[in-house]
Amino acid sequence: AILNRAVAAEKAKLSSSNNMDNLQQLLSEIFEAAIKSAFPDLPDPPVVIALSGNNVKFGDYQCNSALPIANILKQSGQKCPPKDIANKIVAHVSPSPMIEKLEVAGAGFINVFLSKTYVTEKLSLILKNGIQPPLCDKQRVLVDFSSPNVAKEMHVGHLRSTIIGDSVSRLLEFLGHHVIRINHVGDWGTQFGMLIAHLQDMFPDYQQKSPPISDLQAFYRESKTRFDEDPEFKKRAYACVVKLQAHEPSYLQAWNLICDVSRKEFQKVYERLGVKITERGESFYQKLMEEIVKELEQKGFLEEDEGRKIMWGEEGVGIPLTIVKSDGGFTYDTSDMAAIKHRLEEDKADWIIYITDAGQGTHFENIWKCAERAGILNRKVHRVDHIGFGVVLGEDKKKLKTRSGDTIRLCDLLDEGLRRALDKLKDKNRHQVLTAEELKKAQESVAYGCIKYADLSHNLNNDYIFSFDKMLEDKGNTAVYLLYAYTRICSIARNANYTPEKVKELINAVSISLDHEKEWKLGKVLLRFPDVLVKITQDLLLHHLCEYLYEVAVSFTEFYDSCYCIEKDSSGDIIKVDDSRILLTEVTAMIMAKCFHLLGLNPVSKM
Ligand code: ARG
Repeated sequence: AILNRAVAAEKAKLSSSNNMDNLQQLLSEIFEAAIKSAFPDLPDPPVVIALSGNNVKFGDYQCNSALPIANILKQSGQKCPPKDIANKIVAHVSPSPMIEKLEVAGAGFINVFLSKTYVTEKLSLILKNGIQPPLCDKQRVLVDFSSPNVAKEMHVGHLRSTIIGDSVSRLLEFLGHHVIRINHVGDWGTQFGMLIAHLQDMFPDYQQKSPPISDLQAFYRESKTRFDEDPEFKKRAYACVVKLQAHEPSYLQAWNLICDVSRKEFQKVYERLGVKITERGESFYQKLMEEIVKELEQKGFLEEDEGRKIMWGEEGVGIPLTIVKSDGGFTYDTSDMAAIKHRLEEDKADWIIYITDAGQGTHFENIWKCAERAGILNRKVHRVDHIGFGVVLGEDKKKLKTRSGDTIRLCDLLDEGLRRALDKLKDKNRHQVLTAEELKKAQESVAYGCIKYADLSHNLNNDYIFSFDKMLEDKGNTAVYLLYAYTRICSIARNANYTPEKVKELINAVSISLDHEKEWKLGKVLLRFPDVLVKITQDLLLHHLCEYLYEVAVSFTEFYDSCYCIEKDSSGDIIKVDDSRILLTEVTAMIMAKCFHLLGLNPVSKM
């Protein structure tokens, strides 16, 4: 996002603000200014800031602009060694409290060493004020996710969309954006004709009494079989669609009943996973679809094609959208055209994010191109993204199915997660230590946490194998490892006999020291949190946050292994508590808790 003026002004007084600094962004600004004053004739100089990697010799960040600048100069006939360019840039960097020192190394890399005073101060600000998001330009973002289809199955793909969408929404909400979470439910297709016709036969009194359909998918299959095999039924089904779209009351009622059964099923999943979302299905757009068809027709965008009305994103390239079917009905394409218009013009969205399987990528590209042609979408001011994810596979590397080949019901999947999580906790004898209530909390935390984390920690461009065994491993970058690590960190102050009140007192009385190499490393990792969030707003890949969380946990373990927080004598009595380290532990727990929250995981303090 482009930073507006108000934000820039706010940024200027950053050191006094409560918000966390986005270090990479700040360094970019510092170096951009330096490069521009060192090379005023370069119109758009490259500003490249990267993390330095593991060798402390190379500092914390690097500015790698000297080489590309040398290349640009070369092209205009000026020969200047990158090393000289790097030195010139360094000479123009204005002093900043963030930077301890700059060093030019190798072929012209500028190594940036962060200031210990600065890092220490920022950590104590977090302790005092909580984790405040980095400043950014606030936008209205519409996140279209989950979006299952009524009466058809809600499958693991919808689950993945639900989990990713919830996390993306949480992250954007934390950054201060206005997020509109939309469930674009498939609730308006021709399938309703056969469903209604079947309902009329099975439950003729449906207008007086709610039909007891418990298994809507079975109901769907029955009606589909009749539709395929019985021409009379098929005819009636078509007639039902027409009456439904004409909003005849008894047909609307039947439709509502069917949607309600689905809605209750979906809601159960959302509640168990703690996901909030507003339903605005395809049916919502009926009127708007009629309007947009007229609009596109009048503007001359629609072409006749064997009775259909189609629209090209780019004339003759790829496949066109079907805006009106030959029977006059609307399609998935029509509803998305109506939806994008409504979202940009009524919701005033600055940014729309769609989350589905990767297979729908061309569909959305097409929608955007058509919306641009029609003057609805302007990609210079609006941002649109499709988060397309890979397929969820079973351990046999085929599409995840039950043994009998059916789609797995999500409730069953979540139940299995609960069962497996409990087994895991019992393996570790936790049931003997925890109260029944604590055990239940831990069980849910692990079960839902591991399913979500598996979805989020895999690069979403790839397919991934759904395996409870893998998810529940307690080593490596898994939810179980991280949730345990968090619990252990939370127990440190408890083991020192420090109450939460006592820790609060320390915050004002004690300053954090980062003298030990491992303390210093952990402190810097903790301050990278905003960098990670901002990166995700750019590429929308949530596994960065999982990797970061894992890095925090690992850095903490390294710190804890070599730095005593609590010293005990041979009889186990506490002889000394290191207050500064207790505080560092506290900040670590805060950052981890925030990461968990953004990923939709519920850590527990006892497990
Ligand atoms: N219902 C669709 C499906 O199950 C997903 C809808 C995604 N959102 C949209 N605006 N098209 O594949």
